Amino acid sequence: MSAAIDLRSLARPEIQSLKAYDPGHDIPLLRQQFASKGGLLELGSNENPYGPSPAVTEALHAVFPLLHRYPDPSGAALKLALAKLHGVETSHLMLGNGSHELLMQLAQVFTGPGDEIVFSRFCFAVYPIAAQAAGASIIWVASLPETDDMPLGHDLQAMANAITSKTKLICMANPNNPTGTWYSTQDLEQFMQRVPASVLVLVDEAYIEYVTDPALVSATALQQRFPNLVVSRTFSKAHGLAGLRAGYLLADAAVVSVMEPIRESFNLNAMALAAAQASLADQDHLNTVRQATAVEREWLDAELHALGLSVLPSQTNFLLVRMDERTEDVEQALFQRGIMVRPMGGYGLHGYLRITVSVRADNERLLQAIKEILACM
Ligand SMILES: Cc1ncc(COP(=O)(O)O)c(C=O)c1O
Repeated sequence: MSAAIDLRSLARPEIQSLKAYDPGHDIPLLRQQFASKGGLLELGSNENPYGPSPAVTEALHAVFPLLHRYPDPSGAALKLALAKLHGVETSHLMLGNGSHELLMQLAQVFTGPGDEIVFSRFCFAVYPIAAQAAGASIIWVASLPETDDMPLGHDLQAMANAITSKTKLICMANPNNPTGTWYSTQDLEQFMQRVPASVLVLVDEAYIEYVTDPALVSATALQQRFPNLVVSRTFSKAHGLAGLRAGYLLADAAVVSVMEPIRESFNLNAMALAAAQASLADQDHLNTVRQATAVEREWLDAELHALGLSVLPSQTNFLLVRMDERTEDVEQALFQRGIMVRPMGGYGLHGYLRITVSVRADNERLLQAIKEILACM
């Protein structure tokens, strides 16, 4: 037998030092613990409390008799539905097992050691993981100051200034997680004019369905003029299908064709394919979710302000609430009451809690708890 070696050391150095994405608490365990205590209120992961369209249940039942068969490796039916929705050819679409997978693949395909990827300081946590896994260098750009109209939002001027001859990719969610902030389509257009055609720009639109500000429309509107613009979408948020894992990229056909060979052939399972397609067909349900979320977002925002709390502007289904030195105590006290919100220390936002906007009864339970907790501090 050979001498024992640390098998970790065999991995690429950039992978060895990688920290896994932190999904928060052990939810299945907590659901059990709080089952007999009024239930766990899950406000930590920006999920959709309304759930998917009823048409999804029907579509899933139709898949049952075929579970012993592989799913369609190309996801042709879903792609056709998406192509129709977006008015593009299917060659502009790539399907992912959630958009997370696509973000990882984008970095893997287009960047490597010696290349630079540009991010805003408070960006989605998966981007730096994708960059590091690809071996690329991360260029962090300071966000807008807390005093700005769009506090902690993306500073597009500064991001454009950060581009060098080594830059291969820029990732920027719109609206952004974890801040909830956004930039206008006009600002994006001006930004794109400054980006060389050889640099890919990913606009991650995981929360685009929740947007009510008319100044922000999907970046897909700019893709014909800027073929280096890649847009990612997910079925995890407004479509209410986080548990099934489905997302997609809208990109130039050349981008899609060079990425396709590294896609696992059956990356979307049969249920995810069927559910996503059924969900797309039920735009009424999607609109109901959108409208209800917009109403609740405004209501919760106003109620939190009325408690004297500072809340970042949001076009998403969550609010970033400033708690300063009370952050940890408030989070713990909410947790004791079975209410889970997300502390943002891992993102470098130590004085903030990120709270998913839920249905009115849940939002009222949250507010009542916050009121009681703050009154005791
Ligand atoms: C900005 C952003 N992009 C992408 C994702 C990943 O979504 P998916 O469930 O499609 O992997 C999330 C999930 O929270 C997100 O917040």
